[in-house]
Amino acid sequence: MKKITLKTKNNNIPIFVGNKIVSKKMFSTLIKGKDVLIVTNKTVGKLYLNKIKKLLPSFTVKSIQISDGEKYKNISVFSKIQDFMIKNNFDRDVTVIALGGGVIGDLVGFVASTFMRGVKLIHIPTTLLAQVDSSIGGKTAINHPNGKNLIGSFYQPNCVIIDTEFLKTLPEKEFTSGLAEVIKYGVIKNHKFLRWLNNHANEIINKKKSILLKIVEISAKEKVNVVTKDEHESDVRAFLNFGHTLGHAIEASMKYKNILHGEAISIGMLYASMLSVEKNNLSIEDFNLIESTLKKLKLPTKVPTKITNKNLIKHMSFDKKKKGGKNRFVLLERIGFCVINTTIKEKYLEEMLKVFRG
Ligand code: NAD
Ligand code: GLY
Repeated sequence: MKKITLKTKNNNIPIFVGNKIVSKKMFSTLIKGKDVLIVTNKTVGKLYLNKIKKLLPSFTVKSIQISDGEKYKNISVFSKIQDFMIKNNFDRDVTVIALGGGVIGDLVGFVASTFMRGVKLIHIPTTLLAQVDSSIGGKTAINHPNGKNLIGSFYQPNCVIIDTEFLKTLPEKEFTSGLAEVIKYGVIKNHKFLRWLNNHANEIINKKKSILLKIVEISAKEKVNVVTKDEHESDVRAFLNFGHTLGHAIEASMKYKNILHGEAISIGMLYASMLSVEKNNLSIEDFNLIESTLKKLKLPTKVPTKITNKNLIKHMSFDKKKKGGKNRFVLLERIGFCVINTTIKEKYLEEMLKVFRG
């Protein structure tokens, strides 16, 4: 088992990475009070809730299983969990465990950050995306009918337990989608890692145990490095949004149906790479390595045909409004080196979309 420490202004957060590492001993060392609340969803609960409960014999454990899906990351499910905590007389010593993917992590993180002004939180991420991205860094959120993640907080967990054993039951499509975020770390931070991913695509697809541990550990370290430098996204943390401007517009245009986050980000990353060739002299070799890695890891690189350019531009301009009226495109100078471009005009984006779609 590896331990990575995320050092923030106020905390040192341990992030444990390994295979079959969740254990009684670990919980009894990490949890200080008596009460534990596990929040999960019905899919993950069916697979893992009892197994986790059995590892907590010396605590008073309660659990809630919410419905599975992004649409349940909302204010009414948030209130339902808060009601449950109040009815059960939990006090400030309760430890809340978020057991699941990014939906559970974001929602439960927000619950923990607001219940009695903040209680102890342990993330046990069970999707690849949650293991390499959402469980690290303290962003919590729920959705609003007007948009995703519009309500939330920065709230660091007390620890994160990343156990790659959970990935065994993850549907193939979810696994592939999570790989987009893994590739992103290579693209924005670590050229050597990107080449390695490209050269080990088959072993990654076959989920070889040692390979999974390696990609999760390197990705978690890269995320920790970024968050350590810029916890509240006033600077370099924005680089993690590489590929997200078009990616979010694709997700929104498809009303968050029939496309997973990582799939949309994969397309967005290739588009941002093409803009980088045009605007920042990203080399064709670098562009080709990005494209070939996405393709080898079975991620999509083309905008779905049913979405119009007009729709994409509309959603990108909504994104722009949220960012103070400027398109803040994360582009590459070369693999591993990002810049923020705030001068790209919508007309240009549209022209480039035509070229990109071929
Ligand atoms: P998810 O949480 O919906 O999980 C995907 C699916 O996999 C669900 O059906 C879930 O029930 C199932 N699942 C989870 N673990 C499983 C397992 N081990 N075995 C079998 N099935 C399993 O989706 P996600 O991709 O993990 O997360 C997406 C969410 O994360 C979005 O809401 C997004 O906004 C958020 N996010 C947050 C951050 C952040 O920094 N906080 C970063 C990226 C994404
Ligand atoms: N997933 C983006 C961030 O954590 O900032």
